[in-house]
Formats: sequence, C-alpha cells, structure tokens
Amino acid sequence: MRIIEDPAELQAPDLCGCGFVPTMGALHAGHGSLVTRARADGRPVVVSIFVNPTQFGPNEDYARYPRTLDSDCALLEPLGAAAVFVPPVEAIYPNGLAAARIESEAIALPAVATAPGLEDACRPGHFGGVALVVGRLFDLVRPSAAYLGEKDYQQLRLVQDMVSADRPRYGELRIVPCPTVREGDGLAMSSRNRYLSSDERTAAIALARALQVAHSAQRVETAERLMRETLESFGLSTEYAVVRDARTLMPVKGFEQPTRALIAARLGATRLIDNAAMTVWR
Ligand code: PAF
Repeated sequence: MRIIEDPAELQAPDLCGCGFVPTMGALHAGHGSLVTRARADGRPVVVSIFVNPTQFGPNEDYARYPRTLDSDCALLEPLGAAAVFVPPVEAIYPNGLAAARIESEAIALPAVATAPGLEDACRPGHFGGVALVVGRLFDLVRPSAAYLGEKDYQQLRLVQDMVSADRPRYGELRIVPCPTVREGDGLAMSSRNRYLSSDERTAAIALARALQVAHSAQRVETAERLMRETLESFGLSTEYAVVRDARTLMPVKGFEQPTRALIAARLGATRLIDNAAMTVWR
C-alpha cells in the first residue's frame, strides 16, 4: 500500500479508474466496510485522509479531531487498499485557506444541502466546505466510483446531487451509498465516538433507540415526538429529530413516499448524528 502526498502520483497507471473512499482519518470498521465494498467492485482502491479545515466552524473540533495515521494504515493495509492519499493542506487549497473559505461560502449548493432545520441550520458553512473538498478530491483522484456511508446521509445526498448536476466536471463518476456500520448495541460507528466518556458511551445508545421507536409510529409528528422524548430520557439534547422525504430531505406529512428519520443530538461536548430509512421498516 502506497502513501501518497503529491497529487501528481495519483495519476500512476495502476490507480487509473480507481474506487475512491474519501475520509478524514481516525478510521474504524465503518470506513473498513467502504473499502471492502469498493474492493468488491474489482478496481484499485484509493483512500484519502484529510482533515478538511473548511468544513469545520470556528467553535468546532478541527484542532482536536483525532489524527491517527499509523493505526489508519494498519486498518487499511489488510483490506487491500492500493494507496492512501494524505495531502498537505497546500495540495488541496493552493491559494491558501482564507481564499478557500471564501470559495466554500460562494459555492451554489444543491437544494438538498440546505433543506430547512437540518445540518445546514445547525452547522452553517459546513456543507460548503464539504462540497469544496469533495470536488477537489474527485478532480485530483479521478475515480470511476466513490463510496460514501449512509451514516452521513445528508452529505451523501449532497454529493450525489452535486455530481449529477455537473457531469462535464465529474464524467461518469458513480456514487455508491454504503450502509451504516453499528456497534453491537446499535450505536452508529463514528470517529467522534472516541470523544465519549464511559457514561456518555452508555447514553449514546439513545440515537439508535430513538430511530427504533420512531418505527412504531403511525404518524410523522408522533415519530418526531417519540424520537425527541427518547433522546432526552437518556440525557441528550436534541438539535433535530425529524422524518423527511428520503430524496429531497424536505418535510413530509406521511409515510407514503420513501422517508428517512434524521437525528442530531448533543451529549456533553460531543455532537452525534444518525439516521435510518423509515419506509422499508414499515
Ligand atoms: O465524511 C467525511 O469524512 C468528510 O466529510 C469527507 C467526505 C471526507 C470530506 O471531508
């Protein structure tokens, strides 16, 4: 497995048409499942590890975000990744970070990224930074397919719509959604789970429980109330707990169309998100 810092090396013939897994590192079995899925498609797999400053707000965890390159490589090597791309900030943002931040604020995001009451309302500017870095990574890696986890469902929908809206730039690039990987008790795997104290780790099961109880509701308002009550009964503070159209992420009145339950909640200093398809459960 090669470790690549210089984007020019990504054009090596053996990486041509690769499967691509973009990450910010601090890898866990959820990331591993993306690599395994990409490998199953039979192409060489490139994984990027880049903690992207433009997607963090000024009061967020950019500085303390875990950087664990050695253990990340130890996880990736046996999974058969061909290369790990670990660019310096200058390779991604050659005009500097201040210019990149301005650029990310000016990006015309697909409507799905600004659906009311979701991530964009809680983390203004976050999706501009995600769109900027993902576009830049796709330009540099030039993959034929990119593998993204459903754990970050809004991010997945953003990238899907961003790519399909700009085929001249992204060509035939395929976005492959991959299922969320969960711990034995249902907690969705996340790099941020390592921030949790042992009591918080016990309480974090609330997100998966909330998604389960939502499943029993016959009405959207009931599902949303049950999710909030479940989160709060475990001591979490709810940012949103809603049922939305699975494609547009806009509010829905009922479960007639494909719907998705989406949660963001705070547990101490840690912000956790989770989501689940509702319609297939009914
Ligand atoms: O999901 C992540 O890890 C990041 O948001 C991504 C897609 C690698 C962009 O920085």
